[in-house]
Amino acid sequence: DTTQPEIRKGLVGVYADVSAISKVMPETNSLTYRGYAVQDLCENCCFEEVAYLLWNGELPTRAQLDAFRREEAANRALSPRLLKAIEGFPHDAHPMDAIRTAVSLMGMEDPEVADVSEAATRRKAMRLLAKIPTAIAAAHRFAKGLAPVAPDPGLSFSENFFHVVFGKVPQPEVVKAFDVSLILYAEHTFNASTFTARTIASTGADIHAAITGAIGALKGPLHGGANEAVMHMLEEIGEPENAVAWLEGRLDHRALVMGFGHRVYKSGDSRVPTMTKYAERMAEVVGDRRWMEISRILAAEMLRRKNIHPNLDFPAGPAYYLMGFEIPLFTPIFVASRITGWAAHVLEQMADNRLIRPLSWYTGVEQRPVVPLAQRG
Ligand code: SDX
Repeated sequence: DTTQPEIRKGLVGVYADVSAISKVMPETNSLTYRGYAVQDLCENCCFEEVAYLLWNGELPTRAQLDAFRREEAANRALSPRLLKAIEGFPHDAHPMDAIRTAVSLMGMEDPEVADVSEAATRRKAMRLLAKIPTAIAAAHRFAKGLAPVAPDPGLSFSENFFHVVFGKVPQPEVVKAFDVSLILYAEHTFNASTFTARTIASTGADIHAAITGAIGALKGPLHGGANEAVMHMLEEIGEPENAVAWLEGRLDHRALVMGFGHRVYKSGDSRVPTMTKYAERMAEVVGDRRWMEISRILAAEMLRRKNIHPNLDFPAGPAYYLMGFEIPLFTPIFVASRITGWAAHVLEQMADNRLIRPLSWYTGVEQRPVVPLAQRG
């Protein structure tokens, strides 16, 4: 056949499989995980409960949550060999490259790496969830010439994240805002990194291979890398009175404004109001309203001029900044959360697998004979 079939560039609008993990409803700007509205989860649950929900399909009972938390807390430490390897990473490496490489190394030393059974994959997912924050923090601290902080099994997932990065846990309001951000970042259907993880799992490869690839996909500024780009943009603007002129210059050059737009949501990202509320709280706690004020102006102007709404990365960027995190840690924090959604998708893919292998329509030169090297010139 010589007629080109319809190509959906970027797979726009293509349903690639069924999934029972989460549902995005762009017409109502809503998102559910296993049937629960994400806002409801943010107000009533902690991140560990949501991780349990994504992996098991139901919210845990108190006893189930306690057991889940105990297992996560017990798996946080890195082996001396892995810590030594992380210490040897180039100190100017991007933390996303560091965590991608650390996860790959975790795979090599995982006692069950080659076992792709469901039970072993669940145990490996738990080890990844527990160890990723330790590895992110160790790489960050080594790069700054600091000793790593040992994880504290007595702390919650979010408290421990602050503990391993900073060596201390901030006030509960800050921990709650961080925990909410992790719940919001945990899962979002067939986004690029999740689809990457499923594609890798579809070949029969193990979960460490799938997550290593997913981290690579998340790094890009069109995907997870946007939360860092948002904060660089806010810093460049500097003051609220510069925001409109800066935006005009940007739009005049048809340049992207980071943290705006979304492939699925066209009239607003369901997660933005919740994250904005908590970012505003962080601005109050810190006593610095500048970043949220610039954000407010940008959002209003983008809507007025382009009819484009912000995505989750837009309020998450300043929220993390106000919590005290350095900008290159923002996308690794996304990894620490999204490992839950990625792992749920890897398990779902493995449970009902078929190799993911689409077609491409050839547009290169027609078939031709090889001219031997001596006759080419
Ligand atoms: C995440 O998929 C997921 O679910 C991802 C995510 C998750 O939880 O996993 O939600 C997380 O990745 C959020 C997205 C973070 N990325 C950014 O903030 C980068 C900036 N945004 C864009 O580049 C863009 O909006 C994308 C990549 C998010 C979506 O790309 P699409 O669907 O291919 O849309 P498009 O680029 O074709 O845009 C349509 C129009 C274009 O204008 P026209 O050519 O039609 O005139 O809208 C314009 C775009 O130029 N546009 C923007 C814009 N986003 C879209 N113009 C200026 N600034 C922007 N940010």
